[in-house]
Amino acid sequence: MEQSLDSTAYLTAEAFAADRAAIFHRQWFCAAREEDLPEPGDHSVIDVAGESVLLVRGKQGALHAHYNVCRHRGSRMCDAANDARWGVTLDAGVVGRTMIRCPYHGWSYALDGRLLAAPQLQDTPGFEKAAFSLHPVGVAIWGGFVFLNLSPETAPDFEAELTDPARRLANYPLADLRTAKTIRYELNANWKLILENYNECYHCPGVHPELTAIVPAFKERGGIDLDWEAGIPHREGAYTYTMDGTTTRAPFPGLSEEEKVRHKGELIYPNLMLSVSCDHAAAFVLWPLAADRTLIECRFLFHREEMVRADFDPSDAVDFWDLVNRQDWAVCERVQSGIAARVHTHGYYAPIEDLSLDIRRYVSRTHEA
Ligand code: FES
Ligand SMILES: [Fe+2]
Repeated sequence: MEQSLDSTAYLTAEAFAADRAAIFHRQWFCAAREEDLPEPGDHSVIDVAGESVLLVRGKQGALHAHYNVCRHRGSRMCDAANDARWGVTLDAGVVGRTMIRCPYHGWSYALDGRLLAAPQLQDTPGFEKAAFSLHPVGVAIWGGFVFLNLSPETAPDFEAELTDPARRLANYPLADLRTAKTIRYELNANWKLILENYNECYHCPGVHPELTAIVPAFKERGGIDLDWEAGIPHREGAYTYTMDGTTTRAPFPGLSEEEKVRHKGELIYPNLMLSVSCDHAAAFVLWPLAADRTLIECRFLFHREEMVRADFDPSDAVDFWDLVNRQDWAVCERVQSGIAARVHTHGYYAPIEDLSLDIRRYVSRTHEA
């Protein structure tokens, strides 16, 4: 059997710092949905891998992302939590939907990051505003998901990275989905353990009785025969992830007959786990906080036309997923505490966990790059 990563990869501050540097500081990662920022000037501050990013909708409608750091002497431009801590309100951040202003000495920037004005410096010889744009963060969109890259000058080709998931989910109207409910889970587990758990079905018979009742294929031979390209069939009469496998919601427009009764799942490295049924999607965005702590933002997405119906109710899917999720998080935390035992140096992947091995490949590939 193949060995898993060394236990230290999930446990130590050094390994966590290496993941941050090799993966989150260099690769594309999922950070938001386009729907979060509908209007010019709408913005959010995103803390990832020890960095603070300002994501903002520009005047022409495009999204821009910048390091949340003024080019003058380095103040954060948006930091409402710090203001609250000191009981002050600084006139700063995204102001009047048209500019970003630093609170310290008032340098102001366009939403796209260009320096607009620096008080008292207009007559300074040799002061070129063009050289003082905010440090950029890469932005890319796929299916309504917003991805960021903290090293845009050396970022991998985003479209190439998404080629396979985009092909497998081509019929799903992901950009037309909207978030009906978000649940945030904070786990005492390393982010890679959560990805590994998502990527194998060996654990399904023991951990997920309700899920395997709807999807018996998850019980068969540890999931080795599952065809994720074609989608996973449900039991006779079931076609979605709810407690009884049915729903009153219409299937997404554009699905094939097979996709109307099957389930698909994608792991988009490093931090988006996406599960799609015919009528909803569950999107899990992982935010690694420490070697042994991860925040999972779980969004439940539905077609926007379905959501405006008077009788729209997401709870059949949300309740089912929340149960399955909590079963998963419980075992992930057990692994995190178990692998810290002094006798455990690494685990093993059974042959039927072959997909989990992919994580080891991803981690070693990105760390070597
Ligand atoms: S640090 Fe931002 S204007 Fe001085
Ligand atoms: Fe699971």
